[in-house]
Amino acid sequence: MTSETLQKARDFEAQYGPHIPGAERPAFHVTPTIGWMNDPNGFSVYQGEYHLFYQYHPYSNEWGPMHWGHLKTRDFIRWERLPCALAPDEEYDAAGCFSGGAVELPDGRQLLMYTGVRRARNEDGFLQDVQTQCVAVGDGMDYEKYGLNPILDARDLPEGGSAVDFRDPKVWRGADGNFYAVIGNRTEDGSGAVLLYRGVENWRGEFVRTLDRSHNQYGRMWECPDFFFLDGKQVLFTSPQDMKPIGLEFHAGNGTLCLMGSYDPETGFARERVQAIDYGLDFYAPQTLEAPDGRRIMIAWMQNWDTVGGKPSHCRWFGQMTLPRELSIEDGRLYQRPVRELEAYRRDPVVHRQILVSGEANLPGVQGRMLDMTVTVRPVGHGSYRWFRLHLAKDGQHDTILRYKPEEGILKLDRCRSGLPRDIVHTRSFLVKPRDGEIRLRVILDRFSVEVFVNDGEAAASAVIYTRQEADAITFEADGQVLIDVEKYDLNFDSGREG
Ligand code: FRU
Repeated sequence: MTSETLQKARDFEAQYGPHIPGAERPAFHVTPTIGWMNDPNGFSVYQGEYHLFYQYHPYSNEWGPMHWGHLKTRDFIRWERLPCALAPDEEYDAAGCFSGGAVELPDGRQLLMYTGVRRARNEDGFLQDVQTQCVAVGDGMDYEKYGLNPILDARDLPEGGSAVDFRDPKVWRGADGNFYAVIGNRTEDGSGAVLLYRGVENWRGEFVRTLDRSHNQYGRMWECPDFFFLDGKQVLFTSPQDMKPIGLEFHAGNGTLCLMGSYDPETGFARERVQAIDYGLDFYAPQTLEAPDGRRIMIAWMQNWDTVGGKPSHCRWFGQMTLPRELSIEDGRLYQRPVRELEAYRRDPVVHRQILVSGEANLPGVQGRMLDMTVTVRPVGHGSYRWFRLHLAKDGQHDTILRYKPEEGILKLDRCRSGLPRDIVHTRSFLVKPRDGEIRLRVILDRFSVEVFVNDGEAAASAVIYTRQEADAITFEADGQVLIDVEKYDLNFDSGREG
């Protein structure tokens, strides 16, 4: 049954969503049908298609009582919009249907598991969240909330766990046929933890163990966890709030954390390595799925709570997802590459090899705002350059710059002059490792964003830009001398050819 609140959201998006011209959106990055979007939710395979839900407030371009928006795709590039899936229409989720996951049930239905939020007064009289876990079951379009929600509440927490910060279940079906979920929680030391639950009858879950916790080292509350096996390692993702910077690895504020280790059902998760997931400005709350061919694919909110103040004026949608990325672990590091399906949309290759750059230059055929380009930069001899800059989305007033300094091994992403109306955080620097003296930058542009993949996926950095579309020049600049190779493809979505 569709509640009045859900029907209202569906009517609203059907009426106003189509008002947004296609050219005002990215061509292949997910945006909300109308209004506001944050975290990806329920990224999963259902009946042979990939479904994606998202944190959604259709009625304005600000965060508000959370709904779940919904789309699906066959190739991660072309998406079909579906009607709003969940609305805050029950007493237990009246303040919002927060983030969660989805899974296909053995009987062919789809289960959505989310955090239901209501507000209640605490002992000081202040209103605060009560966060519980809830489920809804449906057919890939319409979902019925379970009559006995919530299925997990304060009584299911381990000692010291907070019922105010207990959210973002990511659910999957284990090899043993059981359902499992990881859920973010705040512990008695005020910092985050990830809890593991196992499904029991009637959608209820039993607490298995705490998988890992921050101990105030990697931020405070741990949001949006994910837990999966990849290339011989057990991987735990989480998005911590209030991180402290650690060198160039983690920056202050809302960060992302990839913990790698092993998992033993008897003894739990043993953490071996820690790294950031994305080194750019706009990336948060990633979620993964396992594709039928075994690939682990990740999508994330290409935005960050610390940068949401940088809205363009007149924006009828706000919030984008990253391009879905294939994950792997190589030499103990998390690698990310754009999904290979993107390659089916490449057109008109432009290739330049062994071009000597000294000062600033452009290259014939190399410009645009919707493209897939790889630039390889190598010194002419030892110490031949002090820095190399790749200028993107450039005109007389604007550019977005990637700058590499070989002596420091630092790549800097700078979008100070990329059309954002506020002086929010605009630069981020991170360490990269040259290979045989070379660095390789694969850049994906899609009208309002830049995603960079360094050295075949060793590091990724994402940022939104709002530079006017006419600013489409690309230039190469060196202090000293470098040799570059450039391979550039336009991305074209008009022909109807699918990957
Ligand atoms: C992360 C988050 C989640 C929460 C959701 C609310 O960005 O804060 O923890 O479920 O957003 O929209």
